[in-house]
Amino acid sequence: MKFIQTLSAIVLGMLFPTMATAGTLPVIQNVDGYESLSLNGPWNYIVDVQEEGYYDYRMNPTPWGFFRNAKPQKPEDLIEYDFDLSPTMQIPGDWNTHDERLFFYEGTVWFKKSFNLSPAPSPLKHLLYFGAVNYECRVWVNGQQAGHHVGGFTPFNFDVSDLLKEGENTVIVKVDNKRHAEDVPTQIFDWWNYGGITRDVKLVKVTPVYLEDYSLTLSRKEDGGRTKEICFSAKLNKAEAGHEVTLFIPELRLEEHLTTDANGEVKSERIKVKSNRLQLWSPENPKLYQVQVCLDSTTIADQIGFRTIETRDKQILLNGQPIFLKGISIHNEKPNGGGRANSAEDARTLLSWAKELGCNFVRLAHYPHHEEMVREAEKMGLLVWSEIPVYWTIAWKNSKTYENARQQLTDMIIRDHNRANVIIWSIANETPHSAERDDFLGRLAQQARTLDNSRLISMAMEVTSAANYVNRLNDNMNKYVDVVSFNQYIGWYRDVNDAPKMTWEIPYNKPVIISEFGGGAKYGYHGPKNQRWTEEFQENLYRENIAMLDKIDGLSGTTPWILKDFRSPRRVLPHVQDFYNMKGLVSDKGEKKKAFFVLRQWYDTK
Ligand code: GCU
Repeated sequence: MKFIQTLSAIVLGMLFPTMATAGTLPVIQNVDGYESLSLNGPWNYIVDVQEEGYYDYRMNPTPWGFFRNAKPQKPEDLIEYDFDLSPTMQIPGDWNTHDERLFFYEGTVWFKKSFNLSPAPSPLKHLLYFGAVNYECRVWVNGQQAGHHVGGFTPFNFDVSDLLKEGENTVIVKVDNKRHAEDVPTQIFDWWNYGGITRDVKLVKVTPVYLEDYSLTLSRKEDGGRTKEICFSAKLNKAEAGHEVTLFIPELRLEEHLTTDANGEVKSERIKVKSNRLQLWSPENPKLYQVQVCLDSTTIADQIGFRTIETRDKQILLNGQPIFLKGISIHNEKPNGGGRANSAEDARTLLSWAKELGCNFVRLAHYPHHEEMVREAEKMGLLVWSEIPVYWTIAWKNSKTYENARQQLTDMIIRDHNRANVIIWSIANETPHSAERDDFLGRLAQQARTLDNSRLISMAMEVTSAANYVNRLNDNMNKYVDVVSFNQYIGWYRDVNDAPKMTWEIPYNKPVIISEFGGGAKYGYHGPKNQRWTEEFQENLYRENIAMLDKIDGLSGTTPWILKDFRSPRRVLPHVQDFYNMKGLVSDKGEKKKAFFVLRQWYDTK
């Protein structure tokens, strides 16, 4: 009996970590500010359709799983897997566009990476950081479980200091991208379910007490224009008082020395700066300041812009001035064949097309994009709408689903809350009305405000009724959002030639953003404007929609659907869609369709 107990204790230790061994920590702020070992590059992988590497034939988690990275010790030993003899794929990357056998694959794939480490001089610690893994993953370091994560588009990190050793170390990751009703997103969504370790992996060195988070914003408060106030706050990973935190902004000759309180926090210091000295971030002048935040003897460098964003009645004000958001929606997908975008170069390619369109704003749909996308947009002067994948019909009554959505929202805000160009947090897209939905989304909106009250909250609603060409928006969520945004597809899913007759009833004294409109076209396919899929059809649809939307009272921006044709398993029309949603203004190769120029022309007038 004793032996069984010990065995099961060991098994449980390997499979279900006690938080002591490792565990998910709040995502560290500005991970690129820290010294780290990149674990990007080739990883061995094993496709495990029936999760043989995790469960025994009774579907109980097995202690002899692939996470042990076992090798035969004796000739008679039976080990039926070998990572080192298995193929490799480049990480970050998705398996769908790496291995054509896995193009449609949804299931489990195991990944293994070995690396050498001369142990960090104690007391330094190591955080194992993932930019994102889609969808659910379990991570082991040297056979010991480091942690578990759910959600495919936000970063997470584990403290693995106690699991590492001198010399060769091994990280093994079990990734599963199967879809379930209670997930976020739920079972169906109009984009490709790219699976894998889709963003950077790093082993980050930190001191035992480190800057878990810091925040720099510009207060909306004015004192007649002479000075402005920068708000600075910081939080340590430990509730320890007396730590020195110093903020340096050399270009502003700003140096602030602060000390943490008993909670290990420096709470919102208001630092006055002469207005004539501070350049505000804007699309025309995307000014970023070199900033250093020091904790005791560790210095973290960052690039931060300062601006204010707010609404006044039906206007959106950037730095106190009304702005029209000339936007476009974008999926986080590489051009030329698809695959998850994951580099600064991918970001620059997509964002430069948006700039060519005359945009000052991008809706990063429907989930947080990779960090470089947001940072490159910040450098290029593009404002950002960032969103979590609470998409279509989520399991509103399921508390685990809510916790999952709340965690994704929190991690999205933690990662990007110092980015001046991010102005809108979006909590949902096209969700059906119900009391459960309102409760779920209402709590998310409050969570977003609690975490960050310096930005605007929104979500993509849907037109509620459209009888007799009168389009009404009637959504209880209006009271939770700062900007009323909705998707409408007049000219495509509805009323092809009725755009000129349409009128709108939007009974809210808030700015309006049309978060989606558009239609499909195949680049190079030409014909009469009433012929679906021709460039002329899409061109005409844009013309009619623009004329219609321009009449909407309070219209403060649009993000048409969508910049580039993108992969979707829901789009199966041969020779036209071939698993691509064709609503792009550019093809997957970046070829500009006629409607591209119609939108640019309109934006030139804004
Ligand atoms: C929806 C949805 C998008 C989708 C688009 C379409 O509105 O939000 O994710 O791709 O419509 O039908 O093309």
